[in-house]
Amino acid sequence: MAKHPVVVYGASGYTGRLICEYLRELRIPFTAAGRNEERTKNVVDHIPGVADTGVYDVVAVEHTVAGLSELFEGSKVVLNTVGPFADLGHEVVEACIATGCHYLDTTGEQNWMLSSQERHAAAMEEKGLLLAPGIAQMYTTGEIAAEIALEEPGYETLDTVILWKGAPTTASTETIFSNLLSTAYKLEGGEYVAWDSTPQLHEVSFPGQHETALALPWGGTSLPVWFKDDPRVNDVTSLGGVYNRELMKVVLSIAEAVEQAIRPLPEAEQRAKLDEMAAANAAPMPPREMAAYNRSMDSVHATGPLKHAHVVLRGNSNYKQTALLQAYGALHLLRQKPNRVGFASGCQAFGHRRLLDVLQQYGLTGEPIVVRD
Ligand SMILES: NC(=O)c1ccc[n+]([C@@H]2O[C@H](COP(=O)([O-])OP(=O)(O)OC[C@H]3O[C@@H](n4cnc5c(N)ncnc54)[C@H](OP(=O)(O)O)[C@@H]3O)[C@@H](O)[C@H]2O)c1
Repeated sequence: MAKHPVVVYGASGYTGRLICEYLRELRIPFTAAGRNEERTKNVVDHIPGVADTGVYDVVAVEHTVAGLSELFEGSKVVLNTVGPFADLGHEVVEACIATGCHYLDTTGEQNWMLSSQERHAAAMEEKGLLLAPGIAQMYTTGEIAAEIALEEPGYETLDTVILWKGAPTTASTETIFSNLLSTAYKLEGGEYVAWDSTPQLHEVSFPGQHETALALPWGGTSLPVWFKDDPRVNDVTSLGGVYNRELMKVVLSIAEAVEQAIRPLPEAEQRAKLDEMAAANAAPMPPREMAAYNRSMDSVHATGPLKHAHVVLRGNSNYKQTALLQAYGALHLLRQKPNRVGFASGCQAFGHRRLLDVLQQYGLTGEPIVVRD
């Protein structure tokens, strides 16, 4: 049984550690959990200031519904960073249902969002619990930008791009690979429509620089899911990528290799081959983010028959943005009910203006640039 109201699962990881840092900043007591106690303790105990002002404990937990339930008992909120979530998420949500905990995770995987909604939304809603996969920079900031565009009526199409500068972590790389085999959806007329599965780079205009950028559907992203039954919106396309054009060409060549060498295999063999390819492409863990280098940019064109709005949200340190959003989500849930229970996004549960305000307070996001014509 965890000692504290918030459990960070995967606290030994890059994002888990940052979440613990922001929980300390927000003065929230937490239990840092991971599959390996020594590794988790080694990470969390070295957070600056945690020994003086943090209230926390560190525990090892087995990745089973029983093991996780035993840990979550008595807590209120679970912040899960153990991805790829499509592979590892169900046990964690099931343990939340068993113990009455709200569930938040850092996913950017559309396939996980859809399967968690299908399998767990009803049970979470019945218990008055929040099931919020994807409270993370990809794609909560894009959703904030989209919601700002929709603050005025007259728009029904969202054309969105998110770009970031930096390198992915170990689990992020695995997640990018696991996304390559899933079907990516956009929204057309309020319905999911699959993107063409042939890997293809899209040239996108990049507000604020002369050169265009390259982007991909990136597994579909969260935005088509969050706007699926929204009566204001009919069409949503969402592309993502990194600032570095050369790196995007590498991502394309990997996606092409997956299409040619892995997709034709029987399903049972695909995963092992994909894991092999991910391991061969594994990069070292990136350094701690630097505001001057690690940037992010969300761009949303909202259009209607007679109107257009362009919202640009610039930020820095996308893993820190993710961690702060998670820690704030926990703070909110400890103090009051979310605006929505069951399957809901960060913006739907806590309000897009509130989340923007939190990111701005910590210098992680600038003032949105809004042009309406
Ligand atoms: N959407 C976004 O903007 C966004 C932002 C940040 C992160 N993310 C996602 O969040 C996830 C975590 O990212 P990260 O940067 O923190 O990765 P990371 O540094 O590689 O950390 C992964 C964590 O998961 C644990 N883990 C891995 N496999 C496990 C298993 N089978 N059982 C139990 N624990 C396991 C690791 O434990 P060990 O230390 O014991 O290996 C570690 O604590 C990824 O899926 C990433 O894509 C998304």
